[in-house]
Amino acid sequence: MLIDNYGRRFYYLRLSVTDACNFRCSYCLPDGYSAGDDSLQLSSAEAATVVRAFASLGTQKVRLTGGEPSLRSDLPEIIAASKATPGIRRVAVTSNGYKLPRVVDGWHAAGLDQLNISIDSLDPAEFAELTGHDCLPRVLQGIARAQQLGIEVKVNAVLLQDGSRRRLREFLSWIREMPVTVRFIELMRTGENKAYFASNHLRGQVIEHQLLEDGWQLLPRARDAGPAREYRHPAYRGRIGLITPYGEDFCNSCNRLRISAQGRLHLCLFADHGIDLYREISRGDSRALAEKIQRAIGEKPLQHHLDQGQVGAMRNLSQLGG
Ligand code: GTP
Ligand code: 5AD
Ligand code: SF4
Repeated sequence: MLIDNYGRRFYYLRLSVTDACNFRCSYCLPDGYSAGDDSLQLSSAEAATVVRAFASLGTQKVRLTGGEPSLRSDLPEIIAASKATPGIRRVAVTSNGYKLPRVVDGWHAAGLDQLNISIDSLDPAEFAELTGHDCLPRVLQGIARAQQLGIEVKVNAVLLQDGSRRRLREFLSWIREMPVTVRFIELMRTGENKAYFASNHLRGQVIEHQLLEDGWQLLPRARDAGPAREYRHPAYRGRIGLITPYGEDFCNSCNRLRISAQGRLHLCLFADHGIDLYREISRGDSRALAEKIQRAIGEKPLQHHLDQGQVGAMRNLSQLGG
């Protein structure tokens, strides 16, 4: 079992399978993706070795992230290998949804349980402006198909100042009849979005006050829940979640570790440059890999220091899948 010096247990692995992305989200990759010097990408066999090592240490859930994971045509193989690993109960993907209608049946057949899709606005023109792709109807169609297949779907919307009240209204009216959880994420400052952050960051508390005023109730937290807080309302089929990394206590409930597409272990989204595990991964030696991960866990920091202006090692979140 992976337990750090602060008693936190880690049973959730976020495995980035590529840092490439086809979108140009204004807060993440406004100029589009360009491959860095280190464009190595774990193969599907190497990804399977990572999952085996984590599973032997008690990991039960794997989330495949990017960049944009659907850009890998072998994603179904990675999903299937993760799902077939003894100890892994749930396999999830976080995606921008662009390819969803075409690929979701294959992901389902491979064993996908959960899908988180980014939709920052339900207004098609605003969606196009924010992402660089005029394809909101297609993303919504993909979500409908995923739900038909029985995959649990959540939507991620980054909180941005301008028009936030209108966007909240639009999401609320959508989830009146739509059984989906929409999670508002506080914009995080990264190496590349400093000016954007300064003019767009909005505290999650603003949304929280509005929700509580409107009769939304905070759901009791499961013992093993991650940092998102969830709210429900009797008149709505969907739920609202809030991810507030700038709020107090956010890191107390941290339950996850991350592996980058280059095979580096990141103990925190923000705190470090990662520990290179590629040698053990490429040898397929999941036992040596597990030992190295076990030794590293003692180094996990208590919390990030975003509130003190920390931006971490990351230029943008596509480098590590958030
Ligand atoms: P579930 O597995 O459904 O709980 O989803 P998740 O919130 O773990 O995953 P998702 O990929 O949908 O991430 C949603 C947003 O939360 C992304 O913007 C992430 O960057 C952010 N996020 C997730 N985990 C952390 C974390 O440990 N620290 C910080 N600061 N942000 C996180
Ligand atoms: N701050 C907050 N969320 C971000 N995401 C990408 N960059 C940032 C950022 N700087 C979100 C995406 C996606 C999730 C994986 O991370 O919109 O929903
Ligand atoms: Fe947008 Fe995610 Fe791609 Fe970044 S990685 S540009 S947030 S879709």
